[in-house]
Amino acid sequence: MIFPDYRPRRLRQNDAFRRMIRETTLSVDDFILPLFAIGGRNVKNPILSMPGHYQLSVDNLVKTAKEAYKLGIPAVMLFGIPDKKDALATRAYSKDGIVQKAAKELKNKLPELLVITDVCLCQYTDHGHCGIVEGQIIDNDASLDLLARAALSHAKAGAGMVAPSDMMDGRVAEIRNVLDENSFSHIPIMSYSAKYCSAYYGPFRQAAHSAPQFGDRRTYQMDPANAQEAIREVSMDVEEGADIIMIKPALPYLDIICRVRQEIDLPVAAYNVSGEYAMIKAAEEKGWIDGEKVMMETLMAIKRAGADMILTYFAADAAKVLRDKR
Ligand code: PBG
Ligand code: ZN
Repeated sequence: MIFPDYRPRRLRQNDAFRRMIRETTLSVDDFILPLFAIGGRNVKNPILSMPGHYQLSVDNLVKTAKEAYKLGIPAVMLFGIPDKKDALATRAYSKDGIVQKAAKELKNKLPELLVITDVCLCQYTDHGHCGIVEGQIIDNDASLDLLARAALSHAKAGAGMVAPSDMMDGRVAEIRNVLDENSFSHIPIMSYSAKYCSAYYGPFRQAAHSAPQFGDRRTYQMDPANAQEAIREVSMDVEEGADIIMIKPALPYLDIICRVRQEIDLPVAAYNVSGEYAMIKAAEEKGWIDGEKVMMETLMAIKRAGADMILTYFAADAAKVLRDKR
């Protein structure tokens, strides 16, 4: 492969060549749209740091989900903003909790749309941590039962897949057991397996009112400096029964996506998180970048790194770009 015998530009000279040799393609099939459910009726509170996204009451959430479904997006990821928080995160696993209501309604109105639910306690605990707290310590084993109850309540409400994001050790096995014991052996688990302790979650915590009230999440989320440890985390979840493994955030962790894709034989999801979205939106608003092009390049990069699917706040916008290109 030496110039002048080989000239890479020969296959770049027009769109036909470029299309034929393209190694990665983005499709609407790859996208999962995160949505925020809140109580009330006809509520649509803009999330300031995430332009185009809202806290939605169930009626409006169904409308947004329907639009996404019409664009061809196969799945949504539900987050809940509860009416009450307490030490035991009661609203995370109650039958009439906000995620349970939203899942039920989506299942009724849009039975073909896959509803994935985020399973965690942080939106529901008064202290904002992802597990229950003993003094200032996040109690791993005491949290497992509550997480499994939350997952079960989601499945009962009609969720088609559950996605634990808490990063407690052993939660995938616990959730798998409880689902299996209750006739939900057909419900897959998408595990946030390598979830880093990241400042890129900032806008989400505003949107979901889930910032920790003391300390931080470093005792359970992964250290951004570690790559090898991600393989251990992912391997554990595989052994515990995860069906899809997730890496989060996406863009600053493309190396992790790539390594996990090479080492693990399960579908890999990547979460293009709120801060990644907010940065592109903010730079676009300032006129500093072409937001649409950066969005498509970013999603392509995540796919190229090895993600089979991408959770992204860009899902609807990117779906429109892909549709209009055809
Ligand atoms: C809750 C949860 C978080 C996100 C998804 N689930 C926040 C956190 O762990 O602090 C982040 C999503 C995003 O930033 O888009 N465990
Ligand atoms: Zn959490």
